[in-house]
Amino acid sequence: MNKVNSELNPQRLPRHVVIIMDGNGRWAKQKKLSRLSGHKEGMKSASLAVKAAKELGIKYITLFAFSAQNWNRPEKEVIALMNLLKQYLESESKELVKRDIKLNAIGRLNELPDDVLDVLNSAIDLTSNCKGMTLTLALSYGGREEIIDAVNSIIEIGDRKAVDEKYFSGFLYTKDLPEPDLLIRTSGEMRLSNFLLWQLAYTEIYVTKTLWPNFRKSHLVRALLNFQKRERRFGLTSDQVKKEI
Ligand code: IPE
Ligand code: IPE
Ligand code: MG
Repeated sequence: MNKVNSELNPQRLPRHVVIIMDGNGRWAKQKKLSRLSGHKEGMKSASLAVKAAKELGIKYITLFAFSAQNWNRPEKEVIALMNLLKQYLESESKELVKRDIKLNAIGRLNELPDDVLDVLNSAIDLTSNCKGMTLTLALSYGGREEIIDAVNSIIEIGDRKAVDEKYFSGFLYTKDLPEPDLLIRTSGEMRLSNFLLWQLAYTEIYVTKTLWPNFRKSHLVRALLNFQKRERRFGLTSDQVKKEI
């Protein structure tokens, strides 16, 4: 283990890390390459980040791979992204099983092209007994869309006049996942871009200027070290929090 890793406190790791993988286009522009080349490099970073998270002992990682709004990008880019996603799933699913990583997906998955959805479902099936870590891909995902879908499901059932947080959360795509502890966003943008709007209520936010294609295990470790210096208060006073630990 290198020096930086060894400074990590294994007792205080975030259980659930979520990442807005941003900056593929800017990375490509800097290198005078096509946006597609940026997405290809970004896919490599995603694959490495998943492995790194598992090695570091993270139990849940969620990657924002394609937003509900990303469908409005130029058709060529959307098609290229869908092809890359399919490639990732085809080439990584055995590797996920080997590493005991269970695959999960959230978002309006029925909006994905049939061939992508088939490969996604096969990969989910293949990894369904894995227990070491859960990797969730957010695909055709929007936080507002998720809340609207939950509300509509509740209306459809139609047996409630009012709901509470617990009942409502049970209708979100993330119902089987713990709350995110740490959100990482690459490429310096200070916004949520419609990601996990409900779930991020008390999540610690870490923004790095590093563009996603340059993101490596050392960057993840840096984010985790930063997280370990934070004091989470959940509305309490600092003294109350210290007494609880
Ligand atoms: C993130 O990189 C990947 C997706 C949103 C699919 P971008 O493509 O948004 O890269 P920038 O923001 O243009 O640099
Ligand atoms: C968020 O990034 C979506 C993903 C990382 C998949 P965007 O690049 O789409 O977000 P904006 O447009 O900068 O807000
Ligand atoms: Mg972007």
